[in-house]
Amino acid sequence: MTDVARTSVSISVNGRSFDAKAGELLIEAAERSGTYIPRFCYHPRMEPVGVCRMCLVEVEGPRGATLQPACYIKVAEGMSVVTDSEKVKKAQDGVLEFLLANHPLDCPICDKGGECPLQDQTLAHGSGETRFVEEKRHFVKPISIGELVLLDRERCIQCSRCTRFASEVAGEAQIAFSGRGDLIEVAPSPTQPFDSVFSGNTVQICPVGALTAKPYRFSARPWDLDQVESTCTTCAVGCRVAVQSSGNRLTRVLGVDSDPVNHGWLCDKGRFTLDSIDGNESSSDPLSAATRIKEPLVRRDGVLSPVSWGVALAEAARLLERASHQPGGVGAIGGAALTNEGAFAWQRLVRDVLHSENIDAQYGDGLDAALIQALPRATIDEAANARTLVTLCGDLREELPVLFLRLRENVVRQHNSIVELSFGASALRSVATVSLAVRAGEAHVVAQALGRSGGGVPQGAAFSEDDLLAARRLIGESGEGVVFVVGRANLAERAPVIESAVRYLAERFPDAKFLPALRRSNVVGALDMGLSPQLRPGRGFDPGSTGRDCAQQLAALSDGSQRALLLLGGCLLGNVLDVVQASAALERADVVVVTGHGGATLAYADVVLPAAVQHERTGTVTNIEGRVTSVVPKIVAPGSAWPDVAIAAELAELLGQSLGLDSIEMAAKAIEESTGYPALSVLNDATDGVVVGRHSPSTTPRPLDPMANPGIRSVESAGLGALSGATTTTHASSAPSPASATLELVGAGRGVEVPLVDAYSLRLNLSRRLYDQGIAVQGSAALANLTARAVLHLNHFDLDRLGVVTGDLVTMNAARGAVRLPVELDDSVPRGCVEVPFGSLDESGVDVVRPVLDAGAVVTSVRLESR
Ligand code: SF4
Ligand code: SF4
Ligand code: FES
Repeated sequence: MTDVARTSVSISVNGRSFDAKAGELLIEAAERSGTYIPRFCYHPRMEPVGVCRMCLVEVEGPRGATLQPACYIKVAEGMSVVTDSEKVKKAQDGVLEFLLANHPLDCPICDKGGECPLQDQTLAHGSGETRFVEEKRHFVKPISIGELVLLDRERCIQCSRCTRFASEVAGEAQIAFSGRGDLIEVAPSPTQPFDSVFSGNTVQICPVGALTAKPYRFSARPWDLDQVESTCTTCAVGCRVAVQSSGNRLTRVLGVDSDPVNHGWLCDKGRFTLDSIDGNESSSDPLSAATRIKEPLVRRDGVLSPVSWGVALAEAARLLERASHQPGGVGAIGGAALTNEGAFAWQRLVRDVLHSENIDAQYGDGLDAALIQALPRATIDEAANARTLVTLCGDLREELPVLFLRLRENVVRQHNSIVELSFGASALRSVATVSLAVRAGEAHVVAQALGRSGGGVPQGAAFSEDDLLAARRLIGESGEGVVFVVGRANLAERAPVIESAVRYLAERFPDAKFLPALRRSNVVGALDMGLSPQLRPGRGFDPGSTGRDCAQQLAALSDGSQRALLLLGGCLLGNVLDVVQASAALERADVVVVTGHGGATLAYADVVLPAAVQHERTGTVTNIEGRVTSVVPKIVAPGSAWPDVAIAAELAELLGQSLGLDSIEMAAKAIEESTGYPALSVLNDATDGVVVGRHSPSTTPRPLDPMANPGIRSVESAGLGALSGATTTTHASSAPSPASATLELVGAGRGVEVPLVDAYSLRLNLSRRLYDQGIAVQGSAALANLTARAVLHLNHFDLDRLGVVTGDLVTMNAARGAVRLPVELDDSVPRGCVEVPFGSLDESGVDVVRPVLDAGAVVTSVRLESR
């Protein structure tokens, strides 16, 4: 028996025989062979339910040919199917007639008009007339069912795509059907608003205009939209997206179904941050994230004033050159918002032109960059299919949302296991097989307990021996089939605590792989391009480097041993933990900022050089798994903003050296030729890209299904569309790769000694939230009011101990002062701990927590008083 015979069955569709995959749904097998069966409720990324009946086809059986839903039945050997008979046509006519019986004549004013599966399939398969004369149903319209979504109930065809997405894919059943008969409607839970960070996906997959996005509603018609396929760089997952514009205005981002990355899903931050890019025309304050920096600025008499590029570059060159005469006098922080080409160019400028090793793409909130490079890297697919997934990171739904969706699927669909090392609230908790509570300062101790073959729980640990033994069993002896997702769960704990745990796990479980949960846009690409003291472009490693990281540069600026600072995108003050130290450091420094946006940091800038941002530039980026994909410009950058590569090249010329990088293509070519790192070969590919260091197997391009993701292309008719989200095999380079970091070369790492916390104090967990103080949120009118509120989360033991209940105000005493905040019951927070969202705001919109914390503490302890 051949492999084909074991894994395939022979079926015939409309008299044509072909091999289908055993167990495949009939609708998918027919589609692959070129026969499109109309559908509404079927979606390739969700379980079939067979509720709309649009896909009825004739299937030959023992009792003759019967009508059966093609989305719900699996192919079987010898199956004979007819999709184009009179009987099938009549069934399709009937289904459409019923669907339209109550459907309003909203098409001229409906967002979906022109890209609507109901319109398209009615044209292609409907009878062209209706026999209904009765009054259609009416509802108040539209109603708001969440912060970002509106519902026009009478447009709904009850396909259940939205409700299934919410419960099946996102695991948040916040919307469901209520009512019966023609009063049935999709409704949010009476107790909980539809506040999912994935709500935009329901709008995207709704096959009619029932669900619409508040930021997009009435803003464009599909036929006016122009589109490119690109990569979202709002976080480091790197979801593939279709970016659409009308004129030079960004209008919409839709998820492209990239098989190895996002499966068509996006988070609301990546989807709805568009107005932060277009800029708020009414905002011209350079200290506001809502302001786009459109022209170069130089500080004159204490005020940032517009100047020409020539003047601004000359002033930047003067400040940097002057500081570079002092050993270690200049350095750069940031760069995660750059493309790989931009990062490559800027590290060349810092190292080769300014002769400095002081460079860091992280803001002290990540992990040791060399350690990350040294870990055996897992792909997202490997993590999503791991026998056992171990999470040693923050809440992935808040940090890397679409990665959370992919990993959740691992348990829900494939019944694999998750061991969660839990620091506080986590959306994976409900599906985790074992959850071990970890308090601040304990990660390395818990990791060692996992690695021991005997012995019980560490003294004072907040989990049971049974759970520890279960976790050990799931991980196994060598870690084969295990993927660890590692990141900074708690920003109020120094990085060496987690780094020590990660290093131990990598050595103890040599067959395991690791996926770094670094969250900031292209931070992985920036590190791969050498934006870290010990790293070099192409994942090179120089253990002898004595350059300063972010925290060391800020300290050196404060004590005067560094004079100038180059800030590469992002907002330093919005990102660092020690905002007091950072402000003091900036106050003393000569500061040159390369950015597309305003922000609080510009209060200290001497020169501001305007840069093109996401959706305005071309280049490549690298996601957490090391996948390099292209980013494609959709609009022209405002004013006189330049691409990062051009700014670095011009500045280098003024400093007396040519980088030889006169274009993005030249930078991409230089990266690939000098390091073997994929760049030029990926630059103009509208594909899923390539993973660094991996051979990409050949895969068949997937057809774009306009019914699965309406709106990706303005389709004129139902059926198989153009290819989209195809994978590639094109990368090949013979350039020698530089010496890389290994666990041995990286060395023993920073030691960790955790001080004891007294019995009256609680350990602080400063956890990330999706809606934070970053530019993507604060610059967007759609998202800014979703910023997390400063609330102290405590479990019920600690609430009882304090004698307070949810909503009461308590005083939090910390190293640098006290703040008064409300408490909230949250039993996912370990006993003896208090969790506060990082970058959260109090009722007056002020970040009151960061200024009172001691960022140098290994773990941060605070005392709460109910008075
Ligand atoms: S709102 Fe849209 S996606 Fe949801 S059930 Fe109705 S038609 Fe389907
Ligand atoms: S998960 Fe990240 S990459 Fe994906 S849409 Fe959201 S912000 Fe963009
Ligand atoms: S019943 Fe098959 S697509 Fe709805």
